[in-house]
Amino acid sequence: MKEIISSVGKLNHIAIAVPSIQIASDMWKKALGANISAPQILTDHGVKVIFVEAPNTKVELLEPLNENSPISRFLEKNPNGGMHHICYEVKNLKSASKKLEAVGARILGDGLPKIGAHGNPVIFLNPKDFSGTLIELEEIE
Ligand code: CO
Repeated sequence: MKEIISSVGKLNHIAIAVPSIQIASDMWKKALGANISAPQILTDHGVKVIFVEAPNTKVELLEPLNENSPISRFLEKNPNGGMHHICYEVKNLKSASKKLEAVGARILGDGLPKIGAHGNPVIFLNPKDFSGTLIELEEIE
């Protein structure tokens, strides 16, 4: 059997679900002096997103676009917002997916990559397999 070579790279971002991206990003800016990106609408993911830049990583603030958004369901349980997922960079999503499958870790949805906020393919892993943490893997070449 060929060895599957795949391991996580840098922490790309930490995502926080918020009821209002405007209020949240104002606070990050005013209180923490953080640089904030322009907002983006990601229809596929049902979210509006803003990136808060830090020297070594980013915080992604996520506001639901509508009530069908997965972020809406998260905010029902966490009305003030809260940590939603962390994102690791990987070199190759295909080999990462194979490795996950080999150890019985589950990919959410149909298991196929979608295009994420940075225009790169991403997958999300079942939080039940990772101590309650939703993990996003983003392919960075
Ligand atoms: Co993300």
